[in-house]
Amino acid sequence: VTVYVPRDSAARSVGADEVADALMRAAAEREAPVEVVRNGSRGMLWLEPLVEVVTPAGRVGYGPVAPSDVEGLLAAGMLEGADHPLRLGVVDELPWLARQTRVTFSRIGITDPLSPEDYLRHGGLAGLRTALGMAPADVVTEVTDSGLRGRGGAGFPAGIKWKTVLDCADELKFVCCNADEGDSGTFADRMVMEGDPFMLIEGMTIAAHSVGAREGYIYIRSEYPDAVATMRAAIGIAHEQGWLGKGILGSPLDFELHVRVGAGAYICGEETSMLESLEGKRGTVRAKPPIPAIEGLFGKPTVVNNVLTLATVPVILAEGAKAYQELGVERSRGTQVFQLGGNIARGGIVETAFGVTLRELVEEYGGGTFSGRPVRTVQVGGPLGAYLPTSMFDLPMDYEAFAEAGAMLGHGGVVVFDESVDMAAQARFAMEFCAEESCGKCTPCRVGSVRGVEVIDKIVAGQQRDENLALLEDLCELMTDGSLCAMGGLTPMPVRSAIAHFPDDFLARDPGRA
Ligand code: NAI
Ligand code: SF4
Repeated sequence: VTVYVPRDSAARSVGADEVADALMRAAAEREAPVEVVRNGSRGMLWLEPLVEVVTPAGRVGYGPVAPSDVEGLLAAGMLEGADHPLRLGVVDELPWLARQTRVTFSRIGITDPLSPEDYLRHGGLAGLRTALGMAPADVVTEVTDSGLRGRGGAGFPAGIKWKTVLDCADELKFVCCNADEGDSGTFADRMVMEGDPFMLIEGMTIAAHSVGAREGYIYIRSEYPDAVATMRAAIGIAHEQGWLGKGILGSPLDFELHVRVGAGAYICGEETSMLESLEGKRGTVRAKPPIPAIEGLFGKPTVVNNVLTLATVPVILAEGAKAYQELGVERSRGTQVFQLGGNIARGGIVETAFGVTLRELVEEYGGGTFSGRPVRTVQVGGPLGAYLPTSMFDLPMDYEAFAEAGAMLGHGGVVVFDESVDMAAQARFAMEFCAEESCGKCTPCRVGSVRGVEVIDKIVAGQQRDENLALLEDLCELMTDGSLCAMGGLTPMPVRSAIAHFPDDFLARDPGRA
């Protein structure tokens, strides 16, 4: 009997390793023929560790399983998919999962991330094989036609970026994957690297073929040791399989891939800072232009894309731009991998076509708050994203609709807060975070963020409130217009949205109030 226990670090953090050990021990004692496979996570994080048993009816899930549950589960007949209070049913049929449109995440949680056989059995390499049979410019056109936009947050069309690199005449070009997933409440990149690393390798190899690069780097944040280990192991296996290195899959394409680990700076997720760091320097922002597509790593034309962007390329090539483009709304095509977190009953991964509303995500998928209190606000798009009130919950997840509402989709993080949140404290936190993480290169960000903290403190202390609110607005305008990169440029977004939607939180505090 095959039993799946996730190896994803979210599942491991709540005891998946111990559950796997307990299961193997108990099965050995009973001489039960159990094969434990360590899969990725299905993304239903409130159910982790989610154990799945292969039965004739499908994969039956039990969760969340503690090591101490294992004996009882085996005694109840878990290996036959029998009933038990922790039995969830056939996992693919659980409404939370069945409602989703899993395109990028189609294999994650289903396969053993480091099994090349599993990868091939579930459609792996189909995209690369198609791409290798096409001229590079045609692959770029396919990516452009799919409507795929940068999933790191800015939403720049991936195909146009690739075309810029392809059109450069340089001999030496690079493909760099930004896996410095620093946004609070985001974890999709990590789950791709831990749950389906060959997909990222395949996407980067397709990018290399398309633009004429022979070397690539994956820049992973140091807070992701499991992702680093899994990616390194996957690169080794890909070499053995002939999926990386010289003459990939019998084609003339040579491509080498390296993993580099960051050192904990949020700003190294900004693409030019990341390139500086990859070059062995301190991670400070470079002025743009020149854009990295023209002068990137070591001054050479470089594709810099986020994990999700590159990981989505194989399926686009395998199934065609049209199939991908048919999903979504307006100029937001395909699917987005939303990450539900914060004070939420059912947190995890919801991959669905653009156009889904915040209400569906937070109330229907998320089930409201974990605390059971009413939702007060949701921050979408990381620490630099806007706080949206529940009155805006019908906003569709669409890059342009969000921009019009003074917000941004960013990397797809959705962090929920209940009514106990203090929005002045959240606004202060945005400025404090910027002061902490600023690379220091430009004044509006380096100095402005420190002044921002002080002004917010004065406002809530009731000191010349109106004057200080005007001053804060001036400062926000200056930071937005005068900062060199998105760190200083977007910090005003959470601050302004907090003031606009929750003005009462900025009234002078009653001295008796905590
Ligand atoms: P940007 O708008 O300056 O650039 C977007 C991308 O398009 C860059 O790669 C840029 O080089 C490229 N580009 C622009 N014009 C081009 C052209 N003509 N040809 C080819 N490529 C071109 O935005 P930026 O500063 O790269 O990213 C800001 C976003 O990052 C924010 O909106 C935020 O959502 C996101 N972010 C994500 C984080 C995460 O952890 N994933 C953390 C912090 C911010
Ligand atoms: Fe550095 Fe901040 Fe200026 Fe960006 S905005 S370059 S992080 S100082």
